[in-house]
Amino acid sequence: MQALFTSVGVVGTGAMGRGIAQMAAQAGSSVLLFDTQPGAALAAQSTLAETWGKLMAKGKLTERMQADLVSRVSCAESLASLSSCQLVIEAIVEKIEVKQRLFSELEGLLAPDTVLATNTSSLSVTAIGAALKRPEQLAGFHFFNPVPLMRVVEVIAGLKTDAGVCQRLTHYARQFGHTPVSAQDTPGFIVNHAGRGYGTEALRVASERVADFATIDRILRDQMGFKLGPFELMDLTALDVSHPVMESIYRQYYDEPRYRPSVITAQRLAGGVVGKKVGEGFYRYDNGVANVPSEPAVPVMNALPPIWVSPKAARRAELYQLLKNLGARIETGASPSTAALIMVAPLGLDVTTLAAVERLDPTRTVGIDMMLDDAATKRRVLATNPATREDMRNAAHALFASDGKAVSVVRDSGGFVTQRVVATIVNIGADMCQQGICSPKDLEMAVTLGLGYPMGPLAMGDRIGPTNVLEILFNMGTVYGDPRYRPSPWLRRRGALGLSLLHEEA
Ligand code: NAI
Repeated sequence: MQALFTSVGVVGTGAMGRGIAQMAAQAGSSVLLFDTQPGAALAAQSTLAETWGKLMAKGKLTERMQADLVSRVSCAESLASLSSCQLVIEAIVEKIEVKQRLFSELEGLLAPDTVLATNTSSLSVTAIGAALKRPEQLAGFHFFNPVPLMRVVEVIAGLKTDAGVCQRLTHYARQFGHTPVSAQDTPGFIVNHAGRGYGTEALRVASERVADFATIDRILRDQMGFKLGPFELMDLTALDVSHPVMESIYRQYYDEPRYRPSVITAQRLAGGVVGKKVGEGFYRYDNGVANVPSEPAVPVMNALPPIWVSPKAARRAELYQLLKNLGARIETGASPSTAALIMVAPLGLDVTTLAAVERLDPTRTVGIDMMLDDAATKRRVLATNPATREDMRNAAHALFASDGKAVSVVRDSGGFVTQRVVATIVNIGADMCQQGICSPKDLEMAVTLGLGYPMGPLAMGDRIGPTNVLEILFNMGTVYGDPRYRPSPWLRRRGALGLSLLHEEA
C-alpha cells in the first residue's frame, strides 16, 4: 500500500503518540518520533518493536513484515529533524500554550504545504491555530485510547482549516483501517459531547435516590443493552478524568443545563474515591473485581391481588398480554375494585402525577416502564410512589418476577431510569445534528465505535419512536420544570412529523 503521507512525524510519544505511530507505520509511512523527555522516543520505538514482535509470534505478521515495520520507525534528535515530513501529528501535553508553541516552531521548520494535526481531546483547534501563520494547514485528528483497538478518529476542521487538509487526513485514517468521522470544532467534538447524557442523567437519577448505583447499572445494561452501566463505566474511566470533562463541556457551552455535572462526582473526586484504579469508586474492588451488592430477593406472597390497568398505560395491549402470560387476575371494569393493585405505565411522567391526575388510589398504584417491548428486554422496572403500600409493592414485584425475569423496583421518578437516560442521550445527539456539529451518519458511527453503545443516539430514538421520546422529554420537563429536558428542534420537528431521526432535510 502506498501511504498518502510517506513521511510522518509524531511529537509526544506517550500512550497516544505510540498508538498513532504504530498505525502510521502499518499504513506504510516512515515515522519519526520526537519527545522532549530524554529517552521517551527511544522507549516508544522499542515498545513498538515489541508489539510487532508479539504480533509476529501470534502469526499475524511475517518476519519480513515485522522487520519492515521496525525499519520504518526512527527517533528524531530535534524538531528540526522533522523538516522533511509531509504530516506532523502532535500528541503532547494537553495545554494550549504548549501546543501553540510547538506548532509555531514547526511552521518555521516545515514546508508550507505540510499538514499539521493535533490529537487534542478538549482544546479548540481554532484556538490552537490562532497562533499560526498558516492556520489553514492545521486540523484536529482525535484518536481514542488504545489507538490500535479504538478504530474511530475524529477529523476536526477549525474555523480556518483548509477543506483539503481534512480530506487528506480522512483518507489517511482509512489507510490506518480506522473509520474517520468529520466534526466541527466544538467542545467535546462528537464522542465526548454525545457521551454527556449517559453519566450525567444517571447521576441525576442517583441524586434523587430513585435507585442505588448497582440497580441503575443493572437496569441500563439489561433494558437497553449497554455493555457497562454508567457507574461501572465511570469507575473504569476514573473520576479524575471524567469529572473534569463534565465540567469543561458544561462551562464551554456556557452552562447549558443538558450538560450540568453532579455534586456526587465532585465530592467523590475531592475524596479520592475515583474508581477501580484506587480500589474504590461507586463500587469497592477486591483484587480488581467489583463487589456488587446482591439484588433484593423477590417477595414471597401467599396470594396476589387482582390487577387493574389504567386505560392510559403505554403499550396497554402488550401489558395485558404480559399479565395474562403471568397468570394474573385482570380486572376489566371502568375503575379498579377496592382490592385491586393498580398499574400505570407512564412515559416521562411519574407515578405520583398519574395517580393524582387519573384520580387513582395512590396507596395501591405502582408503575411499570413499558417504553420498550417487554420481550426485547432482560429486566422489568417497577416504580412506587411515596404513598404505595408495602403489600402492593411486594405483590407487583412478585407477580412480574413470577416467570423468572429480573425485576427492579425503584422510587418514583419522571421517566423511571431507562426512559430518562435514553431520552437524554437521544436529545443531545439530535441537538448535535441540529447544530451541524456532524452528520447523522457520523454521529451514529462515532458513538457506536467510540463509546461502544449498542446503537447510535438517533437509532436509539427511532427504536423508541421519536414521538415517544418527545413525549418523555415533554413530560419530564413538566415533572421537573427543568430546561435540561427541552427537546432539540431536530427531535421536535421529526417527532411531530413522524420522521426518522436519521432523516436529513433535502
Ligand atoms: P502522555 O502523558 O502519555 O504522553 C505525552 C508525551 O508528550 C510525554 O511523553 C511527554 O514527554 C511529551 N511531551 C510533553 N510536552 C512535549 C513537547 N512540548 N514536545 C514534545 N513532547 C512533549 O499523554 P497521552 O495520554 O499520550 O496524551 C497525549 C495527548 O493526546 C493529549 O493532548 C491528550 O489530550 C490527547 N488524548 C489523550 C487520550 C487518552 O485517552 N490518553 C485520548 C485522546 C486524546
